[in-house]
Amino acid sequence: MFDLSSVDLLDAFTRELELCKVKKDEHVVVLAEPDSRGDYVAAAFGAAKSLGAHVISATVPGGSAAPMDSTHTGAGPGLRSVLDDTAAQDLLKSADLVVDLTQEGFIHAPVQQEILKAGTRIIFVCDAPDVLIRNLPQAGDKERVLQGAGLLERSETMRVTSGSGTDLSVQLKGSHPEFQVGFADDPGRWDHWPSTMVMCWPEFSDGQLVLAEGDILLPFKEYVRDPVTLHIADGHIEKISGGAEAKLLETFFDDAGDQWGRSLSHMGWGLMKTADWFATALYGKSDLMGMDARAFAGNFLWSTGPHPVLGRESYAHVDIAMRGCTVSVDGTDVVVDGRLVER
Ligand SMILES: [Fe+2]
Repeated sequence: MFDLSSVDLLDAFTRELELCKVKKDEHVVVLAEPDSRGDYVAAAFGAAKSLGAHVISATVPGGSAAPMDSTHTGAGPGLRSVLDDTAAQDLLKSADLVVDLTQEGFIHAPVQQEILKAGTRIIFVCDAPDVLIRNLPQAGDKERVLQGAGLLERSETMRVTSGSGTDLSVQLKGSHPEFQVGFADDPGRWDHWPSTMVMCWPEFSDGQLVLAEGDILLPFKEYVRDPVTLHIADGHIEKISGGAEAKLLETFFDDAGDQWGRSLSHMGWGLMKTADWFATALYGKSDLMGMDARAFAGNFLWSTGPHPVLGRESYAHVDIAMRGCTVSVDGTDVVVDGRLVER
């Protein structure tokens, strides 16, 4: 019996690794766990080899540090087998590029910062094949996200409003603006294929967020059906009211028992024009991490829980993608009524 499923993916992974600037004689490690997609391991391995790199495929035991199921949540807690094993960490530090094909990735695990400090680039890949291919990044995307991150860097306040009643003021000082662009090209850079977004890590925000029908709750991969109002003071959720999804969020935060669960984490806006808002409805939950939802052009994405800039370690990570917002940075509109403004 032949399994040719990785062949279709080889072109896309080769293009992706070219965007990650993989060069001849560089060292690429393809990191997987037993539940990782075998066709992705084969495609990443073949792509690295075709570009002339030295490649190692490393499969480590599954099992996450987070007290929740690993269902492509995006919480990024990392695998215990890597967090507890310095030999595995040393292998990743010795690589020029790690293609991270684990279920959850390591984005919020402090050990990832140590690996990046060694100069290793990491590209995390977890969504379904046609999501990857449809949203294959373009080299020019980097200029677009750098513009947005630069604007945040120079500014003092971000204001988010919507016709549904959202009105949030965010203090940008010290908020460490960042971006995701879908490829990891610079030494020490982590990125996520697919993604195109600008975000920051503010400490203080005040006002209210009103989730409207069709906004997307992650990691649940569900649309909001009943509006939810969240009162925010000093960067913390003080009160949640509304229908079914308000109760879902309350229960999540209560059950997490996490001191940072109700504290806001990263926030920003999506610039991925190829993203499909319907993906949440059209795919099985186990097929997706949900980057269409997190990065679709013109969304306002905010989150709770881990906050590396403030040293908050937390597993209670919720990402919420809102439509129909106007996002204004020191008076410059970057999103108007849910539509991306580009200059
Ligand atoms: Fe997030």
